[in-house]
Amino acid sequence: TIAERAEDLLSRMTPEEKAGQLTQYFYFTLPEGAEADPALGLDPGAQPREVEAALAAGRVGSLLFVSDPAQANRLQRLALDGNRLGIPVIFGFDVIHGFRTIFPVPIAMAASWDLATVEAGQAVAAREARAVGLHWAFAPMVDIARDPRWGRMIEGAGEDPFLGAAMAAAQVRGFQGPALGTPEHVIAGPKHFAGYGAALGGRDYDEVNLSDSELWNTYLPPFRAAVEAGAGNIMTAYMDLNGVPATGNHWLFTEVLRDTWGFGGFVVSDANAVRNLHTHGFAPDLEQAGARAVNAGVDMEMAISDPAYAALPGQVEAGLADPAAIDASVRRVLTAKLTLGLFEEPFVDEDRARQVLADPTHRDVARTAAERAAVLLRNEGDLLPLDPATGSIAVLGPLADSRRDTLGPWVFDFDLDETVTVLEGIRARAGADVRVEHARGVPVVQRTFPSMFDMFGGNAPTDPEGFDEAAEFDRAVALAADADVAVVVVGEWQNMIGEAASRSSLDLPGRQLELLRAVVDTGTPTVALIMNGRPLDLRWVAEHVPAVLDVWYPGSQGGAAVANLLFGDVSPGGKLPFSWPRTVGQLPMIYAHTTSHEPENQARRYWDEASTPLFPFGHGLSYSRFGYDGLSLDRERCGRDDVVTLGVDVTNTGDRAATEVVQLYLHQRSGTASRPVRELKGFVRVELAPGETRRVTFPVGPEQRRYWNAAVRDWVLDASTFDLWVGGDSTATLGTVLEVTTD
Ligand code: IFM
Repeated sequence: TIAERAEDLLSRMTPEEKAGQLTQYFYFTLPEGAEADPALGLDPGAQPREVEAALAAGRVGSLLFVSDPAQANRLQRLALDGNRLGIPVIFGFDVIHGFRTIFPVPIAMAASWDLATVEAGQAVAAREARAVGLHWAFAPMVDIARDPRWGRMIEGAGEDPFLGAAMAAAQVRGFQGPALGTPEHVIAGPKHFAGYGAALGGRDYDEVNLSDSELWNTYLPPFRAAVEAGAGNIMTAYMDLNGVPATGNHWLFTEVLRDTWGFGGFVVSDANAVRNLHTHGFAPDLEQAGARAVNAGVDMEMAISDPAYAALPGQVEAGLADPAAIDASVRRVLTAKLTLGLFEEPFVDEDRARQVLADPTHRDVARTAAERAAVLLRNEGDLLPLDPATGSIAVLGPLADSRRDTLGPWVFDFDLDETVTVLEGIRARAGADVRVEHARGVPVVQRTFPSMFDMFGGNAPTDPEGFDEAAEFDRAVALAADADVAVVVVGEWQNMIGEAASRSSLDLPGRQLELLRAVVDTGTPTVALIMNGRPLDLRWVAEHVPAVLDVWYPGSQGGAAVANLLFGDVSPGGKLPFSWPRTVGQLPMIYAHTTSHEPENQARRYWDEASTPLFPFGHGLSYSRFGYDGLSLDRERCGRDDVVTLGVDVTNTGDRAATEVVQLYLHQRSGTASRPVRELKGFVRVELAPGETRRVTFPVGPEQRRYWNAAVRDWVLDASTFDLWVGGDSTATLGTVLEVTTD
């Protein structure tokens, strides 16, 4: 059995070999001329040499950032030759929203509220990744994010634990398939355990202070769902959680993850997070940082160079590292390798890799995902879909024809040649009879600080040679004035968002708002397409631009998807996975808040700004309309452990096929703690033909009513009166009442 094989290997390993199995190195193959990054302590020449020497000495358990199959085979050969027990290395990588075929960014996938599409997307990503020799994705990121200043909001599912949990599980299923070890799949590594999304002020890596109630009710549920879906790995987080570094936090990894949830996989640290236990002022030196992490339950250290885990044998001798913890960690890592079949098939077939990456069906899945992710924020006078008689379109804005920006951040092995921009998509879909003109209008905006991704080459945006700012602005406005409709693509550039890309403002960067105003002033009907991974300040836009479609960073097939949406081949059906604030000053803003002091008109408000969002959580329009009717419960009273069924008829009352995300919200009126005014407790995306009615049902049982009560430090099920609402967003008013009694 796998357990016996792991035990046998373990029994023959030296302390140094064990420490090696618990070490994961980056392996950097940087582009020609890449410069050392002092922030990462990285010398692009020396780092690969250090890693190859460690491989040859049998001191490496895993590598990351190797995504070329020939390179993977070469390094695997080095590893096997260097390891006297023939233990292969396991290759991990940031496969966040696709490998070669790039999907919409994760927050966009969450906006689809479409679990099947999300699962299918990550299955494609897994297939491509596995084909090139990768075994493990550092994804999904399941951190709840409630402050959009935090750039990594783009990598998660937004503010809500119920949606976040559903998305986490769907992605784990997509990456791993029905069971760990399924061919053409990889291990999923949900991250960053735990609370990383609550960084103070939205500043990446800043400390996190979360109450017991917030942790259990909001931040932990997506992790728990990922574990229940069978995730084989978990990644730690960088920051302090309530004063203790997450990566050295015994409570998180041992008590919660393993003892309470029964997690059976292995835990990896975030990059250099083990050595950073020293930086935190937690461990007195690098060596003890390793001991503290392994004792806490962190099985593998992800290191750029000079790993702390290399010192584990000495730490055992000094009585600081627990040898039983080390053995348990090695067992878990070996079990993962054995389960994946790496001992039998350590190498990868390079020809097959080429075939898999070229599979055209992958592009179809990506296009469908981008269509389903788009959120129609506003559509005054039904400007969209475009009138079939449209004879000319001005496609404007700095992001309209930028392939890199269309992909979004966290992409490495994409193919720019097969990336379709919005301009290209519109041109292809519009055909020869429609005049399509383009101008960028405004210059690109450079980030004030370099991005950590710059070293991978070419990510800093540039204006074309000879770009004349004033002339370009005027040209864009003139094109708009001369067209039947203007489509203006605005948002943030690719790496203004993502890791280490927090912003203190949510303004549209640069002169983009000015461009939009000038275009609207021409009187030409205007559509704003937003490319983003977080809400931006759209107060003016939401009032003055008749049609606003959030297309996110839509990925390789993004332009084709956007064109299909604009021309009405498909109707938008995405819904916001976060509350869209009016201004940065309202942050954090969530729909599931509690109520407190009366009078209501003075509670939770500013003197100078509304307390409501610009667009509520769950919002998203359609080219059709939907009616809700016949809301009923199969029982209006039940006991605490009972499950009742809520049903509602949803009708497509318009004249085109469309999808609606039917959402269920719940509120507990009184109990042993005060509860949010409403919380999402169910959703389903339904596709309806014109005039079609579907009865949608939801269970309302202990699962939906249970919550963590900080007063008793346990899960409770209160007997109470529950309000239930069903509708197309979090302001739904069609409601009913359920009485839950003590029996
Ligand atoms: O997987 C990532 C993580 O999310 C942030 N730090 C670096 C890791 C590896 O690239």
